[in-house]
Amino acid sequence: MTDSTRRDLLTLTASAGLALAAQNALSQEKKAEAPAAAKPAGKAAFREYAPQTFKTDGLKGLEKEMLEQHLALYRGYVTNTNKANAWLAQMLADGKADGYDFAEVRRRLGFEYSGMRLHEVYFAQLVPEGTPVDEKWKAAVSATWGSWEAWVADVTRTALMRGIGWAVTFRDPLGGGLQNFWLSDHENAVPAGLVPVFALDVWEHAYVKQYGAGGRKAYVEAYLGNVDWGVVGKRL
Ligand SMILES: [Fe+2]
Repeated sequence: MTDSTRRDLLTLTASAGLALAAQNALSQEKKAEAPAAAKPAGKAAFREYAPQTFKTDGLKGLEKEMLEQHLALYRGYVTNTNKANAWLAQMLADGKADGYDFAEVRRRLGFEYSGMRLHEVYFAQLVPEGTPVDEKWKAAVSATWGSWEAWVADVTRTALMRGIGWAVTFRDPLGGGLQNFWLSDHENAVPAGLVPVFALDVWEHAYVKQYGAGGRKAYVEAYLGNVDWGVVGKRL
């Protein structure tokens, strides 16, 4: 509606005592013409995460420089998780949440977020030269695999599979018990509903610097010698 049309409508209706009704009508029309304002996103839907700190001193067979480089990669996952969430929030606020950009960033978020969380599990369970096997953890793996040694063998053979990814022991809150899975990248083939309680990174950045391209087995053995099984047991 043009400005002159609006004035005409007000003039015509004023004499009949209908000015207020006309103004209301114009107000309603103005609301209808205005682009729909995006609803503000819930803060928790696009939250920001802080990187955690982990110690890298004194780990047997795992050199500090390699671990520090690895931690820098971990902080990159936190940064990119936050970036992805910020982009998603901005696109939603701008009314651009229905396009490819939003979809692709949301897809990417799974990679960054899972990379962040798995590295936190991985680094938090490290301690120089490891600890004695936690009885709670030993009982849990024995209930599933029959013995501690059988779980070690199964998680090791999982970690030595070809490809880059993770060997992860999950707790199943729904069905009970534990299961070992191979995760490609970070986010592919993640079993729904399961909680990671032990995670072993076998991307090449985790070991090639120290052990070389063919050194994954030696790296896995070294890593298992630096695990705080009490930390792992508390995740049950
Ligand atoms: Fe990694």
